[in-house]
Amino acid sequence: MERIVIEGGRGLRGDIQISGAKNAALPLIAATLLTPGWHTLHNVPNLRDTRTIMALLEAMGVRWEWAPDGPLRINSEHLVGNEASYDLVKTMRASILVLGPLVARLGCARVSLPGGCAIGARPIDFHLRGLARLGCTIALNDGYVDAKIDGRLRGGTVYFDIPSVTGTENILMAASLAKGDTVIKNAAREPEIGNLVDMLTLMGCGIEGRGTDTLVVHGVRELRPAEIAIIPDRIETGTYLMAVGAAGGEVVLRNCNPKHLPALLEKLHAVGLDIEVGETSIRVARRGPLRNVDITTMPFPGFPTDLQAQFMALMSMGNGLAVIHENIFENRFMHVAELRRLGAEIHIDGHSAIVTGVERLRGAQVMATDLRASASLVVAGLAAEGSTIISRIYHLERGYANLVEKLAKVGAAIRKEKEPS
Ligand code: UD1
Repeated sequence: MERIVIEGGRGLRGDIQISGAKNAALPLIAATLLTPGWHTLHNVPNLRDTRTIMALLEAMGVRWEWAPDGPLRINSEHLVGNEASYDLVKTMRASILVLGPLVARLGCARVSLPGGCAIGARPIDFHLRGLARLGCTIALNDGYVDAKIDGRLRGGTVYFDIPSVTGTENILMAASLAKGDTVIKNAAREPEIGNLVDMLTLMGCGIEGRGTDTLVVHGVRELRPAEIAIIPDRIETGTYLMAVGAAGGEVVLRNCNPKHLPALLEKLHAVGLDIEVGETSIRVARRGPLRNVDITTMPFPGFPTDLQAQFMALMSMGNGLAVIHENIFENRFMHVAELRRLGAEIHIDGHSAIVTGVERLRGAQVMATDLRASASLVVAGLAAEGSTIISRIYHLERGYANLVEKLAKVGAAIRKEKEPS
């Protein structure tokens, strides 16, 4: 196992290239199951999670080619299976994304229930209820979801109690091959869903309401393969913005989309960072002290829960109090105990964390507990005095392409090393 060692306190300077979005790549890869033929996906990030979903597809007979720095080409012509096994699903909840396309194309599918996860119960009831509305029979057997249909899925109305990102994506994919129209109400509006809508549109399915909470899908009998680029990763972008906020310096993030980060950019202005937005770039600099501000996580365009931990790390070194309210997941404060090890003063009260900024964090040994919690430890470690050693970094590798290399290139003293046995 490897760990990350950071000697904090060095300002960051230079350019960082943002990779394709993990949370867009996963549904777009799943969508290639909808129809045979070679699909071409550009800007796919090479991450543990994208490799996991490719392993899942490969186990079903999908062929793929992926040259270094080239597009990912996928062909699901010769499917020999329709099952996503527990072994792979337990390592990545988003594996549930194969359920909608498989059942729509093959008429039946078997996907393991994801089980618990570090940031809460995260049920999949919305996915299953939605598929049932389109005519699927769903049974739960031995920890697996068995979904089947007689003939073809039928369009219908699907309403989400809470906007669910992967739930909306699963229903969009299933509905694209259904007979008739499907209306998704209270749909999630995250930019990654827009990317999937664009892919399904290129594949030949008409979809109205892109970017809104009501999507109308005009299902078709057959789809065709598509060629499309994955959008830039807004969570990676946000993490590096906060890394510069924490460490100081001036960095230009390139190949990103500032329009996908409305809430964070607003908050970082209020915190006192200098931010200059271009069409596909953001220049960020810290020229003075940080002012603590409150946030509440919300579905897009609200403040993303996936940036809450990193924002908390930044607030732990700012001036004053910040109240951080987590609205999306019930157990998403796992990073608090680790940030406290670095000297942060954080008090948890139910779904809120009250952060009192301290003058300086101090390096310590900490443990990554989930993907975004790990990123918050990197943000904190870049500012902390002395060495911060982060173990269990496989969490980070699920979602950040070349994080160590990208930060080292802009001057951070950060390296990976083998964990002593
Ligand atoms: C996606 C993202 C994840 C992000 C999250 C919220 C991917 C691959 N993952 O996860 O990074 O943190 O959105 O922005 O895109 N819920 C239910 N029943 C369901 C589904 C969801 O109760 O069937 C609840 C969840 O517990 C949560 C809320 O709905 O409270 C939103 O979750 P959801 O948007 O579904 O998260 P994911 O799609 O799993």
